[in-house]
Amino acid sequence: MNQAELIRALPKAELHVHIEGTFEPELMFAIAQRNRIEIPYKSVEEVKQAYNFHNLQSFLDIYYAGANVLIYEQDFYDLAWAYFEKCAEDHVVHTEIFFDPQTHTDRGIAFETVITGLKRACDDAHEKLNISSHLIMCFLRHLSEDAAFETLQQALAYKDQIIAVGLDSSEVGHPPSKFERVFAKAREAGFLVVAHAGEEGPADYVWQALDLLKVNRIDHGVRSEEDETLMQRLIAEKMPLTVCPLSNLKLCVVDDMAQHNIQRLLQQGVKVTVNSDDPSYFGGYMNDNYFAIAEALNLTTEELKQLAKNAFEASFITDAEKKMWIERIDALI
Ligand code: ADE
Ligand code: ZN
Repeated sequence: MNQAELIRALPKAELHVHIEGTFEPELMFAIAQRNRIEIPYKSVEEVKQAYNFHNLQSFLDIYYAGANVLIYEQDFYDLAWAYFEKCAEDHVVHTEIFFDPQTHTDRGIAFETVITGLKRACDDAHEKLNISSHLIMCFLRHLSEDAAFETLQQALAYKDQIIAVGLDSSEVGHPPSKFERVFAKAREAGFLVVAHAGEEGPADYVWQALDLLKVNRIDHGVRSEEDETLMQRLIAEKMPLTVCPLSNLKLCVVDDMAQHNIQRLLQQGVKVTVNSDDPSYFGGYMNDNYFAIAEALNLTTEELKQLAKNAFEASFITDAEKKMWIERIDALI
């Protein structure tokens, strides 16, 4: 088996993907048309040309605009179903999907519409594609603490359908400390917790996510390398980082994939995982991310297998399921 065949054959878990970030231009056009919503592009080509981001905010502006065409439950179903089809192609057997309810409720779309469409796609993916999944509800950190509390309140009615809460959107200027009380209430209510930290923001935001939000995983976290004491803590606590290589390249978190630190982090014993973040915007789904780092960093077979195993270990599936997938990866030659 050559390296590309190994990457395709590995059973994979995805732990960092925003469902709104899987919105392919073709589907965006189709949904805009059937919902009779004007979008500022004449063609799929024109949409793709607009995807020349240089930082997180320039991406987020376009990402939120794209989500405006999602109105009905069926729209959210179609969005998630298209992503599950990509999972099937890439042999992603388990996925933990972020969704941003505030992007939709602020436009007058009911929380129920969003979650019902997404959950129905998750159930169908389990039944028809044999892909398991969890939903993670993210708070938009550029909005207020009050707005996050309101969103948490709405989520309580769907507690059994949401495994965790997370924190995303514009990082710099919106530290984890802003959401300390909301996260405490979410943990009390029984949600697991994750947070984006150390993507564009400093290593200090990773400390805050650990100490104030008490997260189970850090999303991104690549800037942790700037703080040696933090690195020792991540290693000692086996704290997972959900790293997104193509995203980091597209948003200029790294200048060149050959300079990405995922291999260095892995070799030092940090529990790093590979993820696609917003694959429609950043040039690729799960396997594209593996291909990009395998080539640029000359990853070994053992390193690729370790990355895949880390994702199952860091996931929110049961210990028995983790064991089964890890044994399957070990059995691959
Ligand atoms: N929302 C969608 N993708 C994101 C990212 N990479 N960072 C922060 N918020 C996001
Ligand atoms: Zn993200």
